[in-house]
Amino acid sequence: MDSIRRTALVTGASSGLGLTFADAFAARGYDLVLVARSADRLEQGAHRLSSRFGIDARAVPLDLAEPESWRLLADQVPTTDILVNNAGFASFGDVADTDPARLTAQIMLNCGALTALTRTYLPGMLERGHGVIVNIASTAAFQPIPTMAVYAATKAYVASFTTALWSEVKDTGVRVLGVCPGPTQTGFFTAGGDESVLTSRRSPDQVVATALAALDADRPLAIDGTLNSVTAFVARHAPAKLQTAAARFAVRPSRSS
Ligand SMILES: NC(=O)c1ccc[n+]([C@@H]2O[C@H](COP(=O)([O-])OP(=O)(O)OC[C@H]3O[C@@H](n4cnc5c(N)ncnc54)[C@H](OP(=O)(O)O)[C@@H]3O)[C@@H](O)[C@H]2O)c1
Repeated sequence: MDSIRRTALVTGASSGLGLTFADAFAARGYDLVLVARSADRLEQGAHRLSSRFGIDARAVPLDLAEPESWRLLADQVPTTDILVNNAGFASFGDVADTDPARLTAQIMLNCGALTALTRTYLPGMLERGHGVIVNIASTAAFQPIPTMAVYAATKAYVASFTTALWSEVKDTGVRVLGVCPGPTQTGFFTAGGDESVLTSRRSPDQVVATALAALDADRPLAIDGTLNSVTAFVARHAPAKLQTAAARFAVRPSRSS
């Protein structure tokens, strides 16, 4: 029996997709490092998963939109076998109407932390000749989205960065995958400030199953769900006028205000 302990570090692990990824890796025998801001929810998750699966699970509460947290995490957790860069959030509304600090925090978290943590853990993976980096992008990556302009741009960054990285690590034993969920039933919409948009949603279990299946294929990006795949393909190839009009329609609030 393999007695080597392997670790999965999951950011944004206090809820939603991150917690579901943590569950899936714990079930496969991985020790866990769970990172997000909510210390109590992380501790609860760590306790539940270690009791259920007999693994070690450690909660590391940090605000990953703050660049000093990237170094703190690297100091506390110098190495991992799997990195899931999942922490992220959106804000809904026109750029001119949104708190500038919220726009900056989105870029720092969705792009900055993801890039910094990749840079922290990738060299060790390359040295050992194995490792997995899963970056959570979105179908928002495939077209600009009015009222979610910064969010869509951050996810386009994640998809581009991940695809380039996938090519850089080819034949090294390290696997890099970008996952592109469409609307998924998590705390994402409440955190973004509008529960009424994009109400046809898939489940976190479906997204994580898509991600785990895609790890066996040699593709840079995995889109969750057939309908999302078709929509993303069409969106990617549409002219800007059509892209933005369709995206604006798709994210309109479903209630009348
Ligand atoms: N749900 C969707 O429809 C959807 C679709 C496409 C892509 N995604 C992406 O999926 C990822 C996970 O989101 P989710 O859907 O699972 O939403 P969620 O339930 O709101 O989870 C977001 C996670 O990120 C953490 N987080 C937020 N700000 C943070 C910060 N400053 N520092 C550290 N952690 C932070 C949150 O924990 P704390 O609040 O405790 O910090 C939480 O654990 C995100 O990257 C999101 O963009 C979601």
